[in-house]
Amino acid sequence: MCGIVGYIGNRNACEVLVEGLKRLEYRGYDSAGVALFADSHIDVIKTPGKVSRLESMTSGVQAARIGIGHTRWATHGEPNTVNAHPHTDCTGNFAIIHNGIIENYSSLKTKLTLLGHSFRSQTDTEVLAHLIEEFYSKTRSTEMAVRLALKEVNGTFGIVVMSSSEPDVLIAARRGSPLLIGLGDSENLIASDASALISHTRNVLYLHDNEIAIITRDNVSLKNLDDEAIEREAEHLTFDLEQIEKGGFDHFMLKEINEQPETIKNALRGRLIDADGISKMGGLRDVEDKITNARRFVILACGTSWHAALVGKYILEQCANIPVEVDYASEFRYRNPVLMDGDVVWVMSQSGETLDTLAALREAKVKGAPVYGIVNVVGSTIARETDAGVYIHAGPEIGVASTKAFTSQLAVLNLINLLVSRRRRTISAEQGRAIVEEMERLPEKIEQILGQRDEIEAIAEEFKDSRNFLYLGRGVNFPVALEGALKLKEISYIHAEGYPAAEMKHGPIALIDENMPAVFVAPGDSTYDKILSNIQEVRARKGNVIVISNEADGRLKDLAKYIVQIPKTIDILSPILSVIPLQLLSYYIAVKRGCNVDQPRNLAKSVTVE
Ligand code: M6R
Repeated sequence: MCGIVGYIGNRNACEVLVEGLKRLEYRGYDSAGVALFADSHIDVIKTPGKVSRLESMTSGVQAARIGIGHTRWATHGEPNTVNAHPHTDCTGNFAIIHNGIIENYSSLKTKLTLLGHSFRSQTDTEVLAHLIEEFYSKTRSTEMAVRLALKEVNGTFGIVVMSSSEPDVLIAARRGSPLLIGLGDSENLIASDASALISHTRNVLYLHDNEIAIITRDNVSLKNLDDEAIEREAEHLTFDLEQIEKGGFDHFMLKEINEQPETIKNALRGRLIDADGISKMGGLRDVEDKITNARRFVILACGTSWHAALVGKYILEQCANIPVEVDYASEFRYRNPVLMDGDVVWVMSQSGETLDTLAALREAKVKGAPVYGIVNVVGSTIARETDAGVYIHAGPEIGVASTKAFTSQLAVLNLINLLVSRRRRTISAEQGRAIVEEMERLPEKIEQILGQRDEIEAIAEEFKDSRNFLYLGRGVNFPVALEGALKLKEISYIHAEGYPAAEMKHGPIALIDENMPAVFVAPGDSTYDKILSNIQEVRARKGNVIVISNEADGRLKDLAKYIVQIPKTIDILSPILSVIPLQLLSYYIAVKRGCNVDQPRNLAKSVTVE
C-alpha cells in the first residue's frame, strides 16, 4: 500500500527520500514522487511505475535539505503522473503526501471549487492541499491550517505537509494510517514504516490517531487536533536492517519461507511450561479467566490470516470444546453481527493495519465484546486498539505473500488452545505435555521439509505451465488447501481453487482431466482413509495427483504421481508442516513463470483501504 517518507536536516533530502521509498517498495505501489524545497520554492517530481524511474529523474538534484516522498497505490484515479503524490494547492505553496482515504472528498471538492480552487488530479488527497491553502489564507500558519483542515475531513489519513512559506518545518498527522518519526542528530525523518528510517536512526516516536507532529531539524513536538501538547517518550527499534533485507536469498518470500524454523521458535519462546503441559502469554495474563470462561470465540481476519483462523477453529473446538466462529472481517463489519454475553472476539492480522480487520475490531468493541489481538507488527494500530493480545513475533514480513506469519499465527493459536484446554480441563496435564513436546520439535521438522526444496522445485518445473490447480484437504488441513491455492494464485497468476476433499464430488470433479493437477494435503490423520478414496476419484479421471503426506503406504504410492513426505506430528500441529511444501511449490512455479514474486501485480502488503 502507499508509503510515506519525509526528511528535514542537513543532508541531500532527495537521496534520503529515494532511499526510504526503496525500502517501502515491498508494500506495493504503482507510482512514486517527491517534493523538495530549494531556491525559495517547492519542486515536485513524480512518475508512474517504479522508484528506480523516480531515482533516475531526480539524479543530480542536490540542493534541498527538506522534502517529502511517496509511493502510491491507486484508490481514486488511475496510476499516472498527475494522480501520483505529492499534491499541491493552487499556488504551489503547499505540497502534501497522504496515505488513507478522504471519504467526504467529493463534497469538499465541490465547496472548494465554488471558492475558486482549481483541481488537477482525480485524487481525494488533492482536496487536502486546497483545504489547507484555504485555511492558511485566513490564519497564515501552516500548522493551524493543517489542524483546521483535518477537522473538516472524514476518513483515514497519514499525511505530511511542507510549505514554501515555512520551509523549516514538516507537519505530519494521522488518523488510521500509521506514521512514526525518526529522531536523528540535527535531522528528523518521518515514515509510514520503520524500514524507511532504520538506516538513519533507531529512536522513534509513534504518532497516534488524531495527533499532529511539528517537525523541525532540531525538534519534534506533538499535539492533538485541539492544539494541546502531548508528551511521549521515544522508543528504541530493536530489529535490524539485515532482518528486512533478503539475506542472501533471491527473494524475500524464499527467505521468509526458510526463516520458519526460527520464527516458530520465536513464537514459542518462553511461552511453554513443559512440566504442567500448559502455555503462558504475557499479553493475555490479565484476561485468562475471561478467555477460559468464554461461551464462544469469534475470530475475525482477512486473507491468509483468515485461513489461519479456520485452522484455529478446528483446533479449539476439538481440544478446548469451545464453539468458534470464524468470519471475514470485511463481512462482519457490514452485517449486523450477533455478539452475545460471554463471547470473546479475536482479531488476527500480520500487519496489524488491515482496514477491514480494524473496522471489524471497532464494531465488535461497540457491541461490547472483549477484543483480543493476534498480531505480528508491534505497535500497529490493531495491536494498540485491542484490549489485550499476543504478538506472533515472526519479524518483518516483506514478501507480499504471507508465509512465515501464517505458521507463526498457527503456533500462537496452538498456544492459546493449550492454555484454554488445560484451564477448562478438556485435556489432561499429560495430554498437554505431549502437545508441548511436539510443539518444541516443530523447528527441526520444518528444517527437514525445507531440505526437500529440490524435489519440490522439480514438481514445479513439471506443472509450471498448468492453467488451473485444485487443492484439496480435509479437517484441520482443509484451510491449508485454501492457503495453498491462495499462495499459488497470488504470486503465479494461475487459477487455483481450494476445496474440502469430500466436496469435490459435488461439483469440482467435473474439471478433472489430464491437464488438471490436484494437490492433496493428506497427512495420516483420522481422515486419511477417506482422502485416499478422494485421490482415487481424481486418478480415475486421469488427474495428476501431488500429495503432501506423512504416510508412505503402498496405496498412496500407487495413486500419487508425486509425494512430498513431511514428518509425522499430532493432528492439530500438522498444518504448520503441511503448508510449507505448498509455499515452496507456489514460489518455484512463480519464479519459473518469471513473475514478480515479492510484489505481485495488483496486491499490497498491507491493505489499508476497504
Ligand atoms: O496483515 P493481515 O494479516 O491483516 O493481511 C490480511 C491479508 O490481506 C493477507 O493475508 C493477504 O491475503 C496476503 N496477500 C496473503 O498472502
